[in-house]
Amino acid sequence: MKRLDITTSSPEETRAFGAALARLLQPGAVILLSGELGTGKTTLTQGLAQGLSVHADVNSPTFVIAHEFKGRLPLYHLDFYRFTEDGNLDILGFAEYFWGEGVTVAEWPERVTGLPPEHLSVHITQQGDNQRAFSCAAHGTRYEELLDTLKEELGDAA
Ligand SMILES: Nc1ncnc2c1ncn2[C@@H]1O[C@H](COP(=O)(O)OP(=O)(O)O)[C@@H](O)[C@H]1O
Ligand SMILES: [Mg+2]
Repeated sequence: MKRLDITTSSPEETRAFGAALARLLQPGAVILLSGELGTGKTTLTQGLAQGLSVHADVNSPTFVIAHEFKGRLPLYHLDFYRFTEDGNLDILGFAEYFWGEGVTVAEWPERVTGLPPEHLSVHITQQGDNQRAFSCAAHGTRYEELLDTLKEELGDAA
């Protein structure tokens, strides 16, 4: 499996990483973000939004599970934090997000079943007050190519 590991030292750096990643995304891309509360899933999503030219504030959906934004591609920001039991996405009607032209970013993907097998997973761990490690793994050839290109763009950072 193809991987990319990168560390950031500030929320701004995390957003810049997200923006660089977003500029390479194609319609229908799916990104699954895992990691403890406060590690930076939403902050990374803000960067993804910037890179997709979304001109709206992205924050943690508190009562809403899905937020849609208009950008270069539509951005669907899903947060399954409130799913304490396994939720099946087909039943819940979320599957429609993954068929469209948009980019789907999901926080707490481990709390639901039915997410697309082809996706980019990003696992975040906190290493210090402001340091975060991002471990990206490609699931599917399209995401392997994406990581190859991203590695070239990030150069020494990755
Ligand atoms: N390098 C970093 N990357 C991302 N967030 C950081 C970083 N350093 C500090 N932070 C802070 O950590 C918090 C991350 O919160 P958030 O993105 O909402 O996390 P999550 O969505 O994973 O719960 C924010 O308060 C952010 O300012
Ligand atoms: Mg969040």
